[in-house]
Amino acid sequence: MRPLVAGNWKMNGLSASLAELGSLQDGLAVLGLRLGSDVLVCPPATLIAQAAWKVAGGAVALGGQDCHAKDSGAHTGDISAQMLKDSGASFVIVGHSERRQHHGESDGEVAAKAQAAWRAGLKAIICIGETQAPRYAGDANQICGKQLDGSVPGGATPANTVIAYEPVWAIGTGKTPTSADITAMHAHIRACLVRRLGKGGREMPILYGGSVKPDNAGEILNLPEVGGALVGGASLKASDFLSIIRAISGS
Ligand code: PGA
Repeated sequence: MRPLVAGNWKMNGLSASLAELGSLQDGLAVLGLRLGSDVLVCPPATLIAQAAWKVAGGAVALGGQDCHAKDSGAHTGDISAQMLKDSGASFVIVGHSERRQHHGESDGEVAAKAQAAWRAGLKAIICIGETQAPRYAGDANQICGKQLDGSVPGGATPANTVIAYEPVWAIGTGKTPTSADITAMHAHIRACLVRRLGKGGREMPILYGGSVKPDNAGEILNLPEVGGALVGGASLKASDFLSIIRAISGS
């Protein structure tokens, strides 16, 4: 299966940042047939419609960073999955650890958001990952298994869902798990998905996220059961993001 390299701009980016998308498009055009992955950028919701004009006809897909669990209604300040779709998104990230930590999102809410994404015709990127303490205590597998069970609705298929394993302690810190730890966790996630979803769980992409940079992307993306990367900081600059994409494409 073709890997997915997804960029999460988080709360960064103004209209001027769309120039980076233009540079990204140009870089991908140069790669041409050597491009070995699908490419997704999740800018702030305010930029998706403009970004959609910018990337039209090119290799870059767009996604939102969160959506509400309801389709519409009295939810001041929130954004529905349908609105993201209408703006030009085809994916949405749900359950990012920054949403879980700063907005108190539970596994159940994340599952409801994933279902809202599907209703709108978006693919849900469902994030899970342990914090530092359970990692040290040897409880990472159990924590991530529980998050998967609670956050991934029963109707999940490889066509509507991508899983992102992002150890919270690795996000924005420059720290990454060892290759052995990433391999072990991705194998665990795969086993949990197969147990819950059967054949669909066998084929569902599992991205790694957390301090993916141009210099470690090649190694991480070659590990078994790693189906791509969710990239924060290093997705903001087209040159860095392209280096990651090139590392995966082997060119
Ligand atoms: P990072 O963020 O690449 O800056 O560590 C990853 C993420 O939060 O998705």
